[in-house]
Amino acid sequence: MTHRIAVIPGDGIGKEVMPEGLRALEAAAARFGIDLELEHFDFASCDYYAEHGQMLPDDWFEQLKDADAIFYGAVGWPETVPDHISLWGSLLQFRRRFDQYVNLRPCKLLPGVKSPLADREPGDIDFYVVRENTEGEYSSVGGKMFEGTEREVVIQETVMTRTGVDRVLKYAYELAQSRPRKKLTSATKSNGIAITMPWWDERVKAMGAHYPEVSVDQFHIDILAANFVMHPDWFDVVVASNLFGDILSDLGPACTGTIGVAPSANINPDGHFPSLFEPVHGSAPDIAGKGIANPIGQVWSAAMMLEHLGHPAAGQAIVDAFEAVLAEGDKAVLTPDVGGQGTTEALGRAIAERIAG
Ligand code: NAD
Ligand code: IPM
Ligand code: MN
Repeated sequence: MTHRIAVIPGDGIGKEVMPEGLRALEAAAARFGIDLELEHFDFASCDYYAEHGQMLPDDWFEQLKDADAIFYGAVGWPETVPDHISLWGSLLQFRRRFDQYVNLRPCKLLPGVKSPLADREPGDIDFYVVRENTEGEYSSVGGKMFEGTEREVVIQETVMTRTGVDRVLKYAYELAQSRPRKKLTSATKSNGIAITMPWWDERVKAMGAHYPEVSVDQFHIDILAANFVMHPDWFDVVVASNLFGDILSDLGPACTGTIGVAPSANINPDGHFPSLFEPVHGSAPDIAGKGIANPIGQVWSAAMMLEHLGHPAAGQAIVDAFEAVLAEGDKAVLTPDVGGQGTTEALGRAIAERIAG
């Protein structure tokens, strides 16, 4: 069976890490005899916007809907296109229209990488953030009144639906149940956000009735953020609303030394639409063009994509390869965010060679 993969590099370092993600993907596909058909797209980037006045062609949905997966880099170039235009015109459309309601973001302290937290070693930090990915705080419901006057008012609603919340909770419980520790932590803020969040807590509890083996706790988001730093070893699976999950999934990887290694899977678990795999990080304009971005976030996303497509051994071979390269600690190969002086390409090549065996 051939897997059709839509490849979209996007902007900034997205264009630099994508070739290394593909190098790893192709090395794993060759080793495990997996047939891939890669189709490259230049849309969903600010360069495309400069030429066409929009981020996506009108028929983007038709062009992408039959792909088996979408492999994305990063999008955004605020110097030329305001972020809310570029993101709402691309990535956030994909997540919503393809109903990718789970954003699965592993957070793991990798061998050879120094945590900024004192005395933390690989094994101490190893959890998943399961982020609700289609509703919540990221709703476009609201409006402006009295614009440009002293009385200006802006309103943006948080929209949570029972279907939307229950389905992501179910995914998180299932994941927790499948892991040795069987532990789920819910991110809440039911002390201050007194309508949606107490209701979120109720839904967490109601879903828990179906998973008696899973032990559940919850923290308000403020102390949860603090506990990520003080006690990252407490966490196994953390489930959160769209915005809380966004913040936690940068904070978690920061606790593991760099956000440059963090991957994500935007999953449509029903399989009606393609799922989308991308690093957690953005286009990093501050380092774009220098060739020093860490490609592991993109490479690890390729591993998650292969696992999703039914090739867990190939995915694991990619993870084993970058862990081995990191553990080796060759400073000429590692990128600066993990303590080296190497380039995106040098690290990508070292990983691909490892995968090839
Ligand atoms: P960012 O993730 O792009 O960068 C934050 C910091 O992390 C920067 O200092 C950057 O140099 C560093 N960094 C990021 N990736 C790295 C890597 N692979 N290796 C080494 N260092 C890395 O976040 P930002 O600066 O807030 O956003 C920049 C642009 O990207 C904005 O337009 C934003 O909207 C967009 N963005 C897109 C996505 C996405 O496509 N999924 C995610 C986040 C931000
Ligand atoms: C992410 C990003 C996006 C988000 C932005 C760029 C809209 O930060 O994928 O984490 O908030 O979801
Ligand atoms: Mn984010």
